[in-house]
Amino acid sequence: MLNKRSFLKAIMLSFLSSNFCKIAKANTSNTKKKAEIVKRTIHSSKENIPAIGMGTWLTFDVGHNTKNILARSQVLKTFFDYGGELIDSSPMYGTSERVLGKCLAKISRDFNLFSATKVWTPNTWHGVQQMKNSKKLWNIDNFNLIQVHNLVNYENHLENLFQLKEDKKINYVGVTTSHGWRHTKTIEIMKKYDLDFVQFTYNIVDREAESYLLKLAYEKKISVIANRPFQGGNLFNLIKNKELPMWAKDYDIFNWASFFLKYIISNKAVTCAIPATTQTNHMHQNMQAMYGRLPDYKTRENMSQYIKNI
Ligand SMILES: NC(=O)c1ccc[n+]([C@@H]2O[C@H](COP(=O)([O-])OP(=O)(O)OC[C@H]3O[C@@H](n4cnc5c(N)ncnc54)[C@H](OP(=O)(O)O)[C@@H]3O)[C@@H](O)[C@H]2O)c1
Repeated sequence: MLNKRSFLKAIMLSFLSSNFCKIAKANTSNTKKKAEIVKRTIHSSKENIPAIGMGTWLTFDVGHNTKNILARSQVLKTFFDYGGELIDSSPMYGTSERVLGKCLAKISRDFNLFSATKVWTPNTWHGVQQMKNSKKLWNIDNFNLIQVHNLVNYENHLENLFQLKEDKKINYVGVTTSHGWRHTKTIEIMKKYDLDFVQFTYNIVDREAESYLLKLAYEKKISVIANRPFQGGNLFNLIKNKELPMWAKDYDIFNWASFFLKYIISNKAVTCAIPATTQTNHMHQNMQAMYGRLPDYKTRENMSQYIKNI
């Protein structure tokens, strides 16, 4: 992981005259402490991880294009410079895992990686090969978390994943879904298995998870990864040319990306949100959500209402 000095240097270089300084200043003046990363505890282990991670679907699927791989390395470096850790990928994401491996190799190893991938195949034997292949592509010894992608062949894959966990080849086991699909099945699986993680779509407009999934995860102490935090980017079309509400700055929110992400990570059942981006300047905005004050329950309702009325 970056030591405190190099982290502060990276922040200072990038944000000397930017809004991030406002966050740090607000934090310092309010609490007499330096800006701290918002972290969440993984229920099953009590390990703490930063509340903003990174997705790789489409954004890292750039094939063999060296110019694009170099550009993604910069995005990744920015992610680590802010103290990001959890990266989510899948064999379903084309060349993303391979590109990720190339990018990780290009930047200094001075970072904390929480590696999360998936198994995605109807064939159990193929799943085992797929996981071995993912490890090679990322060029890592072991994954922190492996999830059954979209619940495909979950019974057999889960059996293998729990065995891998018992053998200490992985730390955590999870399942994923998205776009509000198959919530009933996901609930059934959450009740039946001793999962460490569950991943589903949750953002300021897609709030169905609030009615049951998030509560159940919290009760069962299953850590939650929120995918599609910007609804695949659609949320930015909603707020085009719109100003942030005045009160946003009271929660150290200085851009729309932070507005959307702070809504998600301020839900106590959420462990980590995983926005995806191809752009370094967007990564700067996204990671700022991990600093400063978080909205309370009433403010979260105001945030949602604000977006509904926009
Ligand atoms: N079933 C599953 O397991 C499942 C399903 C869906 C997603 N996921 C995971 O969740 C991750 C996130 O979901 P997602 O990739 O679908 O969508 P997302 O993170 O909600 O949105 C990504 C889009 O938002 C844009 N964006 C990002 N930061 C921005 C910013 N600061 N300002 C303006 N635009 C910004 C990106 O464009 P730019 O490149 O221009 O920034 C990109 O088009 C995936 O990458 C994947 O890892 C898992």
